[in-house]
This record gives sequence, structure tokens and C-alpha cells, in this order.
Amino acid sequence: MSITIDHAGRAALVTGAGAGIGREVARWLARAGAAVAVNDIRAENAAAVVAEIEAEGGRAIPVVADCRDDDAVDVMVATVVDELGSIDIAVNNIGMIPRGRNPRPFVQYRGDDWRDIIDQNLTLAALCGRAEAEAMAAADGGVILFVTSGETTRPSPYNSIYAAAKAAVNHLVTSMAVELGPEGIRVNAMAPGTTLTETVAAAFTEERMEQIAQSTPLRRVVEHDELARLATFLTSDLARCITGQFILADAGAFLSRSRPANDEGLKSELKGANAQ
Ligand SMILES: NC(=O)c1ccc[n+]([C@@H]2O[C@H](COP(=O)([O-])OP(=O)(O)OC[C@H]3O[C@@H](n4cnc5c(N)ncnc54)[C@H](O)[C@@H]3O)[C@@H](O)[C@H]2O)c1
Repeated sequence: MSITIDHAGRAALVTGAGAGIGREVARWLARAGAAVAVNDIRAENAAAVVAEIEAEGGRAIPVVADCRDDDAVDVMVATVVDELGSIDIAVNNIGMIPRGRNPRPFVQYRGDDWRDIIDQNLTLAALCGRAEAEAMAAADGGVILFVTSGETTRPSPYNSIYAAAKAAVNHLVTSMAVELGPEGIRVNAMAPGTTLTETVAAAFTEERMEQIAQSTPLRRVVEHDELARLATFLTSDLARCITGQFILADAGAFLSRSRPANDEGLKSELKGANAQ
């Protein structure tokens, strides 16, 4: 017996799917048989991902919208329902440290930094979730998956607002799951560790990436297609009893942060203890 994930007959919306993790999620949902609406604020990137999916034999449409805008989000969801017949799966992937709001000590963040970072990571996700849930509740239910961050599981010095906003999304997921479960809607989050996307590759030196990789138990960072596989599973019937959860996909980074990256000291202590 083989087990497959089958999204045939389902319509999926992926936000911020013109690049990075969202792009891979859109491609994997299409490979599993879903018709995929590829959202991005950058029209040319959304069109390119649609073309990639079509070249692999999948079905996709571009839905260009700025997800910070309530009205644009409503139009986006209505377009997906009109063109694909329903919205059964929604992956709310957009999130970022906005340009000019670079990580810095907590005391240096001002009101505009707070508003902008919360807006682009929490408010934007909530606006999308609201519109999607409304459309799903009016039909046969569905699955909503938010992309948060491994930064939510531990203190995030110098990145406090981003981590707090993402942690708020993890909590939002629990409230939405309780409210929307009776409507046949599951709501979860997946929380990636450092993932090798173009944005991350541009922000970190190779040396820094290697340092991050070596600090995890698996001695690696996450690849974006690995997150896409997880999203394909979490939005499928194989995960039909899972709701209100956030699932960490971080090569074990959460575990290793509680002790030094270089655990030679710990190893020699253990050797000493065993010798006694
Ligand atoms: N890459 C990582 O290491 C990492 C780690 C943890 C969490 N995450 C989270 O994963 C998600 C995806 O990250 P990524 O690195 O793939 O991002 P990315 O920057 O590579 O891609 C984000 C996409 O979203 C689009 N976008 C931005 N604002 C938009 C808006 N207002 N409306 C519509 N589209 C918009 C961009 O044009 C871009 O195509 C984010 O929520 C991020 O916080 C990423």
C-alpha cells in the first residue's frame, strides 16, 4: 500500500507566493493536485510562479494584491472563489522585517517601528485569515495555515517586535481554531527555523549561515521545499485531526539554543561522569 497526499479537486490560495517559501508551497500544492491561486504584491513574480506551475502540468492563477489592505484582501478571496469555484486551503505565508526596520536593541524601537512590524506580520495575517474563514464557512469548510517563525519559541534579542508579532499569530491560531472548528475549518501554523530563501541568502553571509547550521542538532538549516512538504501534509486529510497547533520545522534549533552551540564542554563532562 502506498500513501499519497491528494489535493485534487481543491482550490488553494497562497499569499506572498511570488518568492521564497510561498513559491515552493504553491508549487507543492499544485503537484498534489490543487488548483492554486498565487498571490503576491509583485505581479511579475506571481505570473512567473503561475508559469512554473503550468509548465509542470498544474493549474494556477495569479491574484495580485497588497495583503495589508482589507478591501484588496476581500477582492482577492472573492476572485479565488469566482475563478476556482471555492477556497479550500489557504496558506498565509507573508511576513517580514520591513525595509528600514532592521533588528536593533529593544529600547531603540519607536512607535512607527512597532506599528509597521505588527502591521506586516500580525495584522496582515489576521486580515487574510478573516476573509478566508468567511468564504470557507459559507461553503464546505477548509484549512488555514499560517507561516510564523521559530523565533516565537524563545527570546529573540534585537528582534523583539518581529518575534512578538509572530508569537501573536501562533496564539491567534488557537482562538480561530476554537471558533471555526464547528464550521469545518482547521487552523494551524508552521514555524520555520532559518530557511535558505533568496531573502535570507542576501541578508546573511555564508559564514553566518554555516554558524547557524552548526548550532542545530541536525547541523543544517531548513530548505524551503521541506516547508512546502510540511504545508502539503498539514493542509491534507492526513492531518485532519490537527487544529490549533503550531508545528516547528527548524532542524531542532529550538532544542540547541538552550545550551552552547559548541557542546565539547558538555561532552567532556559526560565522559568524566561515566568514568566515575
Ligand atoms: N526564510 C526564513 O529563514 C524564515 C524563517 C522563519 C520564518 N519565516 C517566515 O516565512 C514566511 C516567508 O518568508 P520568505 O523568506 O519566503 O519571504 P520572501 O521575502 O522570500 O517572500 C515573501 C513574498 O511576499 C511578498 N509580499 C510581501 N509583502 C506583501 C504584501 N503586502 N502583499 C502581498 N505580497 C507580499 C513578497 O513580494 C515576496 O514575494 C514569512 O512569514 C517569514 O516571516 C522565514
